[in-house]
Amino acid sequence: MNLPPAHRRPNTLGVHSLDRFVFSVPDLDIAERFYRSFGLDAQGDANRLDLCTRDSTHCWGSVFANGRPKKLQYLRFSTYDDDFDALAARFRSAGTCDPHPLSDGAGAWTRDPDGTPVQLVAGPKVSAAAKRTAEPRPSVAPGKGAAPSRKTAARVRPRRLSHVLLFTPDVPRQLAFYTQTLGLRLSDRSGDIIAFMHAPHASDHHVLAFAKSHAPGLHHSSWDVDSFDDVGLGAEMMRNDGYAKGWGVGRHVLGSNYFYYVQDPWGSFAEYSFDIDFVPADIDWAPGDHPPEDSFYVWGPAVPDDFVVNHEAPA
Ligand SMILES: [Fe+2]
Repeated sequence: MNLPPAHRRPNTLGVHSLDRFVFSVPDLDIAERFYRSFGLDAQGDANRLDLCTRDSTHCWGSVFANGRPKKLQYLRFSTYDDDFDALAARFRSAGTCDPHPLSDGAGAWTRDPDGTPVQLVAGPKVSAAAKRTAEPRPSVAPGKGAAPSRKTAARVRPRRLSHVLLFTPDVPRQLAFYTQTLGLRLSDRSGDIIAFMHAPHASDHHVLAFAKSHAPGLHHSSWDVDSFDDVGLGAEMMRNDGYAKGWGVGRHVLGSNYFYYVQDPWGSFAEYSFDIDFVPADIDWAPGDHPPEDSFYVWGPAVPDDFVVNHEAPA
């Protein structure tokens, strides 16, 4: 008897992974400096920068330069081979569009209600397949100091992309589209202000999230790190490299992850995340609608004034 893999939810049509996010910035050198400092393997050529993580050849994000202000270009989702045709039919029902000129042109294409192109490909699952715990740290004998010196602390290197959060003028409209067309599922929301979605075949609490704004845009990408210590160490590393603005360290309520957001050169953010909630393929997550004042963060410093400013589309 063929048993489905533990991370596949039976009789459920939906993408399994956010495979890649793609955006453009005015200057690629500035992007390369920022993401290398952040701990990613950022490599490419004069026109394109691919964002990879340690121990993996997967490209989680691509950055292009066009001299114009930062802009989200498209999202790419992946599915199991035998689900592709049925999902591609849903893309056709939603209305196909031409492949994005900065893409490989593969798979099926549509636009979400905000006009952002969405690509569907068949490919390996790259979203989390299990809840991961902290990397064990070497035990230190009583009577010895456990902390490294500042000089010997290892640079933080994220292990994978967790999620992206998009601005949108209409959170419920985006929720309906990504539910009906891609099979993502609501994890939690705060009314029509913010919402989080997971993939049905096991994933983090959210692979895609939406926050209300006057226009679409990319608010942040979030990167999973090995430990709570790495969240703080990453923040310090970025401050030392000149990226002083950010928010954290703190702990979210929805998703439960420990966070530090460092502001990127374009006013949006890259997040170090540790210990985000996980939704297995054999459990239905019970979505909640939470009061905003009690669901943003459990603890942490005051939120910076410009944390939810849409720099991609100034008001
Ligand atoms: Fe996040």
